Amino acid sequence: MENTTKPITGKVDLYLGVQWGDEGKGKEIDEALSREELIEAVIYDAVCRFQGGPNAGHTYEFEGVTIIGHLMPSGCLHKYVDLIIGNGVVLNPVSFNKEYYDLKSKGIDVIKRLFISERAKLITYLHPFLDAAEECRMGKNCVGSTMSGIGPTYRDFKARQVPLLGDILRPNFMDQLADFIRFQMNVLKMYEESYGYVIPHDKIEEKRFEWFEALEMMFNYNICDTSELIRKKLEQGKRVLAEGAQGAMLDNDFGDYPYVTSSNTLTANLCLGLGVPHHAIGEVNGVIKAYVTKVGGGSFPSKIKDKEVEEAYREAGHEYGATTGRPRMCGWLDMVALKRAIYLTGTTGIFINKTDICPVDTVKVVIGYLDKDGNKFENFPLHLEDVYDVETIEFPGWGTGAVEVTEKSKLPQALINYVEYIEEELSPLGAKIKLLGTGPKRGQSVVW
Ligand code: IMP
Repeated sequence: MENTTKPITGKVDLYLGVQWGDEGKGKEIDEALSREELIEAVIYDAVCRFQGGPNAGHTYEFEGVTIIGHLMPSGCLHKYVDLIIGNGVVLNPVSFNKEYYDLKSKGIDVIKRLFISERAKLITYLHPFLDAAEECRMGKNCVGSTMSGIGPTYRDFKARQVPLLGDILRPNFMDQLADFIRFQMNVLKMYEESYGYVIPHDKIEEKRFEWFEALEMMFNYNICDTSELIRKKLEQGKRVLAEGAQGAMLDNDFGDYPYVTSSNTLTANLCLGLGVPHHAIGEVNGVIKAYVTKVGGGSFPSKIKDKEVEEAYREAGHEYGATTGRPRMCGWLDMVALKRAIYLTGTTGIFINKTDICPVDTVKVVIGYLDKDGNKFENFPLHLEDVYDVETIEFPGWGTGAVEVTEKSKLPQALINYVEYIEEELSPLGAKIKLLGTGPKRGQSVVW
């Protein structure tokens, strides 16, 4: 460390999902970077990931190029912006390399501005199999994981087993890895002997080969102390953008446990996942959709009961997982979950995506959770499976009136009323609406 006495004058602004993930964070980040570029003042110096791994899928489009980022921070299209993968991230060399070369084939080579934390956690080729084995053990109560090995990797990290990315540069790495792989194979055998999981040896062999090949390529990237890198930027008064993955309702502690991901998705984890002090946190921007989607197991209180209506939302909003292709469940905007997420994350700015999607005449909003006796829950329930019904209010729909609109004055009045309602409900929590997304492409949005 050169000098630890300089004051921090820069800030880390956060964009995070405050529903069940897939809110459109990638598009909002691309949008935030572009708006500043338009006035030729590159405000953000870096985009950083601080949690999660290849389970994430962040989509954004510009000039016919569609990018789906899994591990790569959503600043690829902005050539002056550094891309930082923080220590809180779990990284699989296979998916990471694939993403890097996919970008390169589109003419976007990020190698010179890409920095990966030496403390990022390594997903081995056996972690996804352990994910599958665990889902097999859970049977019908399974979490519906993305099978990327996220849960087993974070578990092994907490148990101080998992190799860190920087370990690959150390002389004893192959021994450390061999020992860990032996341990993982034993765990897989336990799943086979005790829970009927069949170890797919051929598939493992195939993945082992791919993984070691990809591991070799990791030496080409800049693996470093990214906390120090960010500290230097903050000392110079630079602004850095942090990109959350998944959403507040999938937080390991405060989501609908156990139907959650295995990292903390809330603002509190930003400091741990990047190695920055709390006083460096700047604005907290919460991204939502005008409705809600969820993938995976567990309850979803605001799920649209009418199958045709749900399907209409799925089709209109192209609600299929960017990582797994799974159809997403669609639900009404859930103010109960949203208000809690806003509180837990300290969100001050709200970005509402997909306001262009409204395939119904009447839009509902969930304002209360009811127990089996029809009584309203006073506090957020420990398990969402205890929610038997929901209390809703209704708003007139706005059809296709908001598609690709870019000026507030051209928005349909019914949408304005809907957004004003959300604003009224959330402003006591200190959250203000900033932008409405009206289409998937950069620039298709309205400043509120
Ligand atoms: P995992 O993170 O793969 O272990 O999956 C745990 C739960 O989080 C499952 O219900 C997944 O569907 C969900 N999940 C994980 N990543 C995402 C995401 O990026 N968007 C939406 N849901 C996700």
